[in-house]
Amino acid sequence: MAYLDGKVIAITGAGRGIGRAVALLCAAEGAKVVVADYGVGLAGEEPTSEVADEVVKEIGNAGGTAVAVADTVTTMEGGQRIVDTAVNEWGRIDGVVCVAGILRERMLFNMSEEEWDAVVETHLKGTFTVFRAASAAMRKQQSGTLIGFTSGVGMLGSVAQANYAAAKAGIVTLVRSAALGLHKYGVTANCIAPVARTRMSANVPMTLDENGEPEDVAPMVAYLLSDKARHITGQTYTVVGGKIAVWSQPAEVRAMYKDGRWTPEEIEARLDSSVGTEKMALLERLEAMAKAAAVGDKPNS
Ligand SMILES: NC(=O)c1ccc[n+]([C@@H]2O[C@H](COP(=O)([O-])OP(=O)(O)OC[C@H]3O[C@@H](n4cnc5c(N)ncnc54)[C@H](O)[C@@H]3O)[C@@H](O)[C@H]2O)c1
Repeated sequence: MAYLDGKVIAITGAGRGIGRAVALLCAAEGAKVVVADYGVGLAGEEPTSEVADEVVKEIGNAGGTAVAVADTVTTMEGGQRIVDTAVNEWGRIDGVVCVAGILRERMLFNMSEEEWDAVVETHLKGTFTVFRAASAAMRKQQSGTLIGFTSGVGMLGSVAQANYAAAKAGIVTLVRSAALGLHKYGVTANCIAPVARTRMSANVPMTLDENGEPEDVAPMVAYLLSDKARHITGQTYTVVGGKIAVWSQPAEVRAMYKDGRWTPEEIEARLDSSVGTEKMALLERLEAMAKAAAVGDKPNS
């Protein structure tokens, strides 16, 4: 028996890169797959249905079962259509994997409203629209798996991708909230922070210390979609090449107290020596990154 036999899985961004690798593996492991992809350029431009159709063809040629939805995830109708397609075709939805994404890189002080909105809409709202539709169906089924895609920059911040980093951070908390809100209905929610060679990572202004292929990311997604991973929820996993790592859950580290309200002067006198600050890894590397960029190099990640 294949690993995902009988499962019905919808994958957004399944036309290219990591989403495509996830779709191909899910289908090869026996799942019926909705290949959802708007078929856009890296910045979200010029949609075409050919990209999703191509992957459906590929799955069919390999003996698998798939159907295409060449819709955008940025609207409620688009998210609903992706889930409805699975339910109408195969009677249920066992998992959704929200991989779709775009980039509009720009320094914060130059970023347009349109650049902000397009990125937040595709990543964060695009995960919400699909989670929203899927969670309603999964609540009725009393089972299901939601998987979001974040990024290291969603945890660590980014010099020139504030829109992308903020959207990716939002996805982590959306996933945690889904894990909490749907726990009693038997639905899990987890996040993947991948690194893989795709057209998107080719655009990253750094040399990546760790890198891998989209196909390296897919098995962890298949595991989380399976019945063997029902005990895992609210987690974020880095997947890159042969490495799988779990991220910590945010928690307060140190506190200071007084009876009543602090004055600014009292805070000034006490904060550095008691609560202090937490190390910000990328802040310490800004100078090296700027030097590398100045000579046309990509600094190491
Ligand atoms: N590649 C990496 O190293 C890396 C690192 C961190 C995070 N990620 C995340 O992993 C995910 C996949 O990235 P990738 O590198 O495979 O990118 P990719 O550009 O190869 O593929 C993204 C796919 O999403 C589709 N898409 C874009 N907007 C859409 C929309 N509105 N509706 C439906 N589909 C849409 C595109 O058509 C494309 O096929 C993204 O969320 C990305 O942010 C990737």
